[in-house]
Amino acid sequence: MVYDEENILLMTPGPVPFHPRVYQAMSRVVFHHRTPEYRKTFGECVSMMKEVMQTKNDVFIFTGSGTAAMDAAIANCISPGDKVLNLIDGKFSERWAEITETFGAKPIRLDVEWGKAVKPEMVSDALEKEPDIKFVTMCHNETSTAVLNPVQEIAEITSEQGKILLVDGITSVGGDYVYPDKWGIDILVAGSQKCLGCPPGLGMIMVGPRAWDVINKREKIPSYYVNLPAYKKSFEKSSEPPYTSAISLIYGLHEALTMILEEGYENRVRRHRLMAEAVRRGMEALGLQLLAEKGCESNTITALKYPEGIDDGAFRKGMQKHGTLVAGGQAHLRGKIFRVAHMNIIAEREILLVLALTGLVLRELGFECESEAGVSAAQEVFLKNLK
Ligand SMILES: Cc1ncc(COP(=O)(O)O)c(C=O)c1O
Repeated sequence: MVYDEENILLMTPGPVPFHPRVYQAMSRVVFHHRTPEYRKTFGECVSMMKEVMQTKNDVFIFTGSGTAAMDAAIANCISPGDKVLNLIDGKFSERWAEITETFGAKPIRLDVEWGKAVKPEMVSDALEKEPDIKFVTMCHNETSTAVLNPVQEIAEITSEQGKILLVDGITSVGGDYVYPDKWGIDILVAGSQKCLGCPPGLGMIMVGPRAWDVINKREKIPSYYVNLPAYKKSFEKSSEPPYTSAISLIYGLHEALTMILEEGYENRVRRHRLMAEAVRRGMEALGLQLLAEKGCESNTITALKYPEGIDDGAFRKGMQKHGTLVAGGQAHLRGKIFRVAHMNIIAEREILLVLALTGLVLRELGFECESEAGVSAAQEVFLKNLK
């Protein structure tokens, strides 16, 4: 078989394709983590992570996926009984509410139709109705619907009202603009296997001063492993995590972050935005409709509605047969949409390919479309960008 597991293009929202330099870095012989050599590598990772997160606040790197970082955020900040406004417009923003409940706090759900963004005025209204809400959670780039939420505007409201804002930046950090210090985000979480370009297994968390005020006042934090004060103490003492580090993953992350900084923040975000524009125009030219409402489309993933009569399983199997994996819908969107991620090193070559294959597979399944129209529309986007 030509397209086996080792030779397939992942256009899925994590894991994503990783640069060979990252694999090479991960194949380094593992050295001991309680050494000056390793502390230097780990310390550099944290410094580079801060640069990529555009923050001067504390950043910690955990062993664990993005959800571990979300878990850490709630466990450390939120006490049983606290009222938390959970802004929910998809599966991942809903996860914040589930974790809130797990730790005995009171989730107050603000539900928005999946495919639409949370509007800042909805947040103001909700906070007005329940003034004793202390925390607000949200997902910046809602991967399940491919919607980008207006964090900056929402952060303006939460900062003004003295609420602590916890943001899932798992599929925006490293791929789109996120300015936690400038915007007023108190907690920002990320994950290694998305736009940061490193295999799964690391979660990152940025903790701002207002979040520290809350954490430092707590008598007891109900987590031993992801206890933020323990991470802070250990890092300040010796630039290392308190427990055994995921050494090979840190080698990979070090290389991945080096590559991000070599490309440059602005260039990287602009590239992600250009790829997103090309996918959107290309898919529309094939006759497909985006799930995301106009004006709030994600720049790292695109969700497309299936045309009448196209079966999700058959479509994705067809794509896989031609060497490309795309993702299906989640929860009630299962079978109704497919999602194409364009994160990390995905660029023109992969975008043109996924559009050509989408046209081919749709035609194989009997959908009438001009299969080359997707590629042409994307080419126009790329050519226009040269001018
Ligand atoms: C926006 C968002 N949040 C959270 C998660 C969960 O991250 P993980 O699977 O790394 O725990 C994902 C994973 O796809 C995600 O896209």
